Amino acid sequence: MRTAKDYIVFPLDLPTVEQASRYVRRLSDHVGMFKVGLELFVRGGNRILQTIRNESDAKIFLDLKLHDIPETVRRAMMQIAGWKVDFTTVHCGESARMLEAAVEGGAGKVAVLGVTVLTSVSAEDIWTSGFESRYAENIIDLVVLRAKTAKAAGCKGVVCSGREVRTIKERFGADFTAMVPGIRPAWSLGENDDQKRVVTPAEAIENGADYLVVGRPLRDAEEPEIAAEMLAAEIEGAL
Ligand code: C5P
Repeated sequence: MRTAKDYIVFPLDLPTVEQASRYVRRLSDHVGMFKVGLELFVRGGNRILQTIRNESDAKIFLDLKLHDIPETVRRAMMQIAGWKVDFTTVHCGESARMLEAAVEGGAGKVAVLGVTVLTSVSAEDIWTSGFESRYAENIIDLVVLRAKTAKAAGCKGVVCSGREVRTIKERFGADFTAMVPGIRPAWSLGENDDQKRVVTPAEAIENGADYLVVGRPLRDAEEPEIAAEMLAAEIEGAL
């Protein structure tokens, strides 16, 4: 049985391994997974993965959001698979072959998630990127299109916003994992940050999210442990 904590993914968006390690120690009893992104991985490489393994039982999400020609993605994914992490990401982008290459490179050793449309992207961004206007008017159509490609390529699931997760689950099944960033609890500040398509933790759970990526509301809280407990209570209430 999954508990509220298992739903919480904390991104270690910090510049040094030392700072990140402090958060690993503080939050290891409060979150189910730590996410290591580009900033920290470029800086600390395997050192931070090792720290997480030593300091906690949490899962590891190596969120490198690959996007390149299929062969380069396949080879990079083979390296990621060697790090023994639980999840990783590839942009759905414009090519099914790139996603297939990602899954092939992962060889079943790491769950590959397709990044559909970043939660920081607005309708205006879609419009100015040259997409058909119907995708700017209904971003969810683009998310569904990309999720369909990801599923067909063999991805374990997708990263999508909490506003789209219900549709994703209805279309692609409960087993198709939905990792949801852009979570903003009512008590967190952050009205002026870069996330656009945000939902509360309860909304994300009610819509069917499997994992909630919650960064700044925990990282920037005066007491991250207490913020994580408040988050867990809200998740518990919604489950
Ligand atoms: O909660 P907060 O906005 O601080 O979370 C930021 C984290 O969520 C970053 O690590 C970012 O890479 C991740 N993210 C993501 N996919 C998105 C949007 C944000 O993985 N679509």
